Amino acid sequence: MLGFMKSSLSRLAYWVNDRFPGIKGLVPKKLHRFVLLRVVGMNDQYEQMLRQNPERLFLQNEALPWVSASYRQVLFVGTASYTYQYEKLFADDPDRYTTIDRNPTTKVWGSKHHIVAPIEQIDRHRAPGFFDCIVLSGVLAYRIPAHGDYGLAAPDELRAMLKVLHGVMRPGGLLLVGWNLRDMAQSLAQLGLLEPYFVPTDKTPWGTRKEFPGDPHVFEFYERR
Ligand SMILES: C[S@@+](CC[C@H](N)C(=O)[O-])C[C@H]1O[C@@H](n2cnc3c(N)ncnc32)[C@H](O)[C@@H]1O
Repeated sequence: MLGFMKSSLSRLAYWVNDRFPGIKGLVPKKLHRFVLLRVVGMNDQYEQMLRQNPERLFLQNEALPWVSASYRQVLFVGTASYTYQYEKLFADDPDRYTTIDRNPTTKVWGSKHHIVAPIEQIDRHRAPGFFDCIVLSGVLAYRIPAHGDYGLAAPDELRAMLKVLHGVMRPGGLLLVGWNLRDMAQSLAQLGLLEPYFVPTDKTPWGTRKEFPGDPHVFEFYERR
């Protein structure tokens, strides 16, 4: 019975969305999230990942709490239904936490200060030296062609992005990069793309790199020069 009600409400939500595409912008974010999570059940498919994936557990339970406690202005790149809770780590001052995603449909999962734009254009939205830390996870070389998701992977694109990130970070700031080795076998450091903008840093609880035995995800930590 509950399942039937849920699927009917879900169909209704999709129908309203198709029929009145602009309506989402009028719905308060809290209500929009409630519908997507409780009615449509958007996170059902990620339940296992959220509870078991070692890289996800590391990001949400170790890396981001440490980032929030150690850095003031933080930018999180790429928002999804399973990332919106990260804003709670900045509940002391929501003005410390900015999110960005080029896909307008993920805006609902963004923070109070969400930007709809590619990360390559963050310098159009924030002043030089604004951020103390940028978290770039699940973005490099991440592709879902069916969704029109192309991912940054070419060396020239990556170098140009690093230049832009360097511009909006303060000297000594932290760039935390997480990605899947199946998408990109070598890190930005191994590809020789950091110079002259960043250097690997071991000023984190995990040294310069965090790996997960048996899992293809990895994180590296770079300091803004
Ligand atoms: C796999 S999700 C990662 C979500 C989150 N960053 C995490 O690690 O859990 C990838 C998201 O990054 C966004 N994205 C991909 N390339 C981007 C770019 N160049 N600029 C901004 N957002 C991008 C996509 O639209 C998508 O929502």
